[in-house]
Amino acid sequence: MTAKIAFRSSFAAFTVLALVIAIALAIGSASGRENRQERGAAAADELLPPEAFASIADPAERSAAVFTEAGKVFTHPRCVNCHAEGDRPLQGDDSHPHQPWARRGADGFGAPGMRCATCHTDENFDPAGVPGAPNWHLAPTEMTWQGKSIGEICDQVKDPARNGDRTLQDLIHHAGEDPLVTWAWSPGRDRQPAPGTQTVFRDLIQAWIDDGAVCPP
Ligand code: HEC
Ligand code: HEC
Repeated sequence: MTAKIAFRSSFAAFTVLALVIAIALAIGSASGRENRQERGAAAADELLPPEAFASIADPAERSAAVFTEAGKVFTHPRCVNCHAEGDRPLQGDDSHPHQPWARRGADGFGAPGMRCATCHTDENFDPAGVPGAPNWHLAPTEMTWQGKSIGEICDQVKDPARNGDRTLQDLIHHAGEDPLVTWAWSPGRDRQPAPGTQTVFRDLIQAWIDDGAVCPP
């Protein structure tokens, strides 16, 4: 009789415990889902498509406004951290100097014995938090965007002497397809991706060029 009661009450206690755990898990995963959705929605909203500027009648004014919008991507830490002015790559949303020790080297692929590819492979390695994409290296110093205004970046990006001798059409191709640019929208671990999507970014560059590639002041 007592054994039966003891069994029953411990069974009841177990059921209550299991219920509590199940509820806690459900709440946890629901709020995780909510957080992810919020982040996703915010990121997608952050970059307006070219159509959002259609009401600006003057093409030159529209072109400059569209580049200013694209500037949200150019000045984002995911891009600036490689388009850095100094001898070291940068890291994180605050663009602090790269840890562990790494230098640009003569070709942007690192110093001898400490090449970028020693640590950075063709894809993100999330267990160790190391980002990766094919051809991982630092942008040359003439392509630095760190600390520059959107207008200065714009002048630089369309200047063949400072953009790797690219035509405006080459820029659209590069913005839409280069694996290092693509990486900025899937940067791995808990890094914040570049605003919007790469498609919207490419469309902005295209629209900027179609309206005369005018730079904001
Ligand atoms: C891992 C480093 C890395 C990241 C991240 C990176 N870039 Fe670059 N980028 C480079 C390198 C290296 C070059 C020069 C490549 C060449 O000339 O072939 C370059 C060149 C460019 C160019 C052409 C040159 C110019 O200045 O006009 C553009 C445009 C560009 N990147 C855009 C971006 C954008 C936009 C992002 C972020 C969404 C980005 N890059 C992220 C390394 C990077
Ligand atoms: C000894 C290993 C090692 C070497 C060599 C190395 N890196 Fe890194 N790098 C890392 C690690 C680890 C991280 C991630 C650190 C973090 O995010 O906290 C990182 C992060 C970065 C980031 C940050 C991305 C972001 O937006 O937060 C950039 C950019 C970068 N490396 C560029 C380079 C370049 C360019 C080279 C070569 C010149 C290089 N790294 C060489 C290990 C290395």
